[in-house]
Amino acid sequence: MPVKPLARLLLIAAFAAAPAAARDKPAEPAPAALHAQMAQISQNTASLNEALRRGQQSAAVCRHCHGAGGNSVLPDVPNLASQNAAYLLEQMNKFVQGTRKSSDFMTGLIKALSPEERIDIALFLSRQPVTRKTADMNAQGAAGRQLYAKLCIGCHGAAGSGTQKIPRLAGQQVKYLEDSLKRYRAGSGERIDPMMASYTRNLKDADIRSLAAYLSTLQP
Ligand code: HEC
Ligand code: HEC
Repeated sequence: MPVKPLARLLLIAAFAAAPAAARDKPAEPAPAALHAQMAQISQNTASLNEALRRGQQSAAVCRHCHGAGGNSVLPDVPNLASQNAAYLLEQMNKFVQGTRKSSDFMTGLIKALSPEERIDIALFLSRQPVTRKTADMNAQGAAGRQLYAKLCIGCHGAAGSGTQKIPRLAGQQVKYLEDSLKRYRAGSGERIDPMMASYTRNLKDADIRSLAAYLSTLQP
């Protein structure tokens, strides 16, 4: 009997929640080794194409929340399409290691992936086009532009496209951007990053709304 995608998702999550010993899982490789492995795959067209094909299959369970091709239609779920591959891999590693906390459900799904599947998915999603839905510039966006130029541009870039391990912000879901900035600012352990903690510490809620409004005007 064919298993429906959602049923499969639930099965995987239940499986992932089982005690580690019962699954006899190999030790988690060091993040640097996984990044090196991903870089190596990217350099060879044949191995990259294989990884993209596998990644498309493995990412099928993620569509329920992150949308087709990683284009989310849910305000608090991030777009993964066109996100930088090394950043995507790093965040999945963080969910596995517990240095980033999200719903137990998604953490379970990601823990159930092998490290190679994480690499394949990161490569696949980073190469999917992100749906354009840019907003017009208004007064709030203009205030956000000033803050962005002062505080954020040095790392995330003028176009908000980031680099390697620095995430692309252009084209990201607005509500998710606001939530993420608040998570870094709160320092409650949901998102841990010393740089983002210091850059968000003094932001007011209105600043966060302005920054998100500005970012929504950038072309993905
Ligand atoms: C039940 C819904 C759900 C499913 C299924 C799901 N995710 Fe997520 N995902 C979320 C939410 C919500 C967030 C943002 C939460 C947060 O920041 O803590 C997120 C965040 C992420 C992020 C971080 C993105 C960023 O910009 O930092 C990655 C990477 C990710 N998910 C990968 C995956 C992958 C890969 C799968 C499939 C194996 C998957 N997710 C399945 C809901 C889901
Ligand atoms: C010193 C470099 C640096 C500066 C300056 C910086 N960021 Fe970041 N930002 C990062 C890094 C690195 C990450 C990924 C951290 C992690 O692993 O959680 C990040 C993550 C983020 C995220 C999460 C994106 C996602 O997909 O989940 C948002 C939103 C963000 N930054 C917005 C900003 C804004 C707005 C500013 C200015 C107020 C800013 N950043 C300043 C380096 C920086």
